[in-house]
Amino acid sequence: MSTSIEDLFDHNRLWAAQMERERPGFFSKLRNQQSPKYMWIGCSDSRVPANQITGLEPGEVFVHRNVANLVVHSDLNALSTIQFAVERLQVEHVMVVGHYGCSGVRAALEGARIGLADNWLRHIQDVRDRHRVLLEGIAEHGRPNAMVELNVIEQVLNVTHSTVLKDAWLRGQKVTVHGWVYGVHDGLLQDVGLSVASHEGLEPLYRAALGRVAARPRPLEA
Ligand code: CO
Repeated sequence: MSTSIEDLFDHNRLWAAQMERERPGFFSKLRNQQSPKYMWIGCSDSRVPANQITGLEPGEVFVHRNVANLVVHSDLNALSTIQFAVERLQVEHVMVVGHYGCSGVRAALEGARIGLADNWLRHIQDVRDRHRVLLEGIAEHGRPNAMVELNVIEQVLNVTHSTVLKDAWLRGQKVTVHGWVYGVHDGLLQDVGLSVASHEGLEPLYRAALGRVAARPRPLEA
């Protein structure tokens, strides 16, 4: 669908009017507070809109997106967003959501030079290098998807190692970090099988998730 800037404002007015018609008071209720149960850390990719995929409405999911859904230990933007979500909003679930066909992950895997973002994507190359042996055990056509899964697993780990999650769990706060992958080709979310609710037992969960990446069938056409 081809749109113009004016269309966006038209759509917005129609949408707001429709929401208000169907759910009177929807916006005035949201004016004073948001109380989302979920935080979504996803890729900036335009094909991966957090709310639409999960059927959640305004006020229900707190979102942070960047290229290739990275959580870098020194990224104050991501960390501040996670802190606000966990400490202020008291979200119960943080999901790191990668997606198949991620061009950031593919560029990192291939070592393609695209510019300034190379420095950002270097973090994914660190993931690639850490799992070199695992990746070599996967047929070449399956490696981009496997890298997407490995990247999600490593970013879940990064969230759990942040001071925000460490402090939350120390306080006894119930918050679980999940790793998901979205298929832009079929619209479906998959769980990579790494849901972490404390540091206890993290290592075996992590190893098991890596094992599933290595063992997953990767047919040629996928
Ligand atoms: Co992407």
